[in-house]
Amino acid sequence: MEKTKVAVIGCGGISRVHLEGYKNNPDAEIYALCDIDEKQLNKRGDEYGVSRRYTDCETMLRELPEIDAVSVCTWNSAHAKCTIAALKAGKHVLCEKPMAISVQEAEEMKKAADESGKLLMIGFVRRFGNDCAIMQDLINDDQFGEIYYAKATYLRRHGNPGGWFGDKSRSGGGPLIDLGVHVIDLTRYLMGNHKPVSVYGATFRKLFYRKDIRQGTAYKSVSASDHDICDVEDAVTALIRFDNGSVISVEASFSLNLEKNRGELEFFGTKAGAKLDPELKIFSSMSGYMTNISLTAPTALSFDGLFQREIDHYVDCVRNGTPCRNPAEDGVTLMKILEGIYESARTGHEVILD
Ligand SMILES: NC(=O)c1ccc[n+]([C@@H]2O[C@H](COP(=O)([O-])OP(=O)(O)OC[C@H]3O[C@@H](n4cnc5c(N)ncnc54)[C@H](O)[C@@H]3O)[C@@H](O)[C@H]2O)c1
Repeated sequence: MEKTKVAVIGCGGISRVHLEGYKNNPDAEIYALCDIDEKQLNKRGDEYGVSRRYTDCETMLRELPEIDAVSVCTWNSAHAKCTIAALKAGKHVLCEKPMAISVQEAEEMKKAADESGKLLMIGFVRRFGNDCAIMQDLINDDQFGEIYYAKATYLRRHGNPGGWFGDKSRSGGGPLIDLGVHVIDLTRYLMGNHKPVSVYGATFRKLFYRKDIRQGTAYKSVSASDHDICDVEDAVTALIRFDNGSVISVEASFSLNLEKNRGELEFFGTKAGAKLDPELKIFSSMSGYMTNISLTAPTALSFDGLFQREIDHYVDCVRNGTPCRNPAEDGVTLMKILEGIYESARTGHEVILD
């Protein structure tokens, strides 16, 4: 069987982990690259020895009909346009998270996938984490009983990446759509992917880029400049209620006066609770005594092989029709949650989801 010819659309920061993944996958060939920014396009092209370079994805899709699959790694507002163009040209698509910047766009993307019969996978990479696999083993063995409440936290003290991340027209929002999406998806996935029925949230715009802080941020967009605008929230808090009665409480921030950055998931079940912060701790009882349990195996999220597993799964789905772990419908559901939280924050009221 011939190698799967892959093109990457959007050659910024995250494109590297996609390109590394394809480079290391024996069944994939990095065939072409596309970026509207020629400098960034040539940088990645030189790094990965790719000579087919395009500044417009429709031209690339028209001139290279032999492409089998694409990764969409553009800023969020271009996900829908590039994904729909690729699906209409008969390509499979792995689209980075968040799926889009609105429910309407996400539904149009799913419709394009359904009509083309091609795969649309969403880059919920945390589902491929070692910590996710361990939690799934424990949940499948019913160690927690009914998990009825969870907390999904992704807080940065000084971590707005700049560039398009702060520009709502290109990002669709701030830490909720950028960071919250990861922890909401993983928490919901581990709790059994229940249907969300309502959300309530509040967003804050108080600190913006924190230009007073002398230290740089950990992750910086390639599009960051001294003239960036910032019209997204810098922190969010929200509650999501599901059709089985369970609730997820969410906190996410780019900028917040807290002690240190935190990425935590907490699960509260009838038999036991768990906290991934990042090591896994389990809270239960034995013979009437409360116990705190830790595993001897490493349980903290490791980035070693994380994106590789996601890319390998995508290539496997494309070549062998393996059922996709991150289907488009989960992307649409997440967009309903995110859009609902923004709407709730705007109106000050609970939003009922359909
Ligand atoms: N899975 C993860 O953990 C993770 C981490 C970081 C970013 N992301 C996601 O990846 C995407 C890209 O983020 P990034 O950090 O690489 O941003 P970035 O700013 O570093 O790169 C984005 C690139 O997209 C290009 N681009 C924009 N519109 C385009 C278009 N229509 N056609 C072709 N290229 C276009 C830009 O020129 C830029 O080079 C975002 O959706 C982001 O949410 C995911």
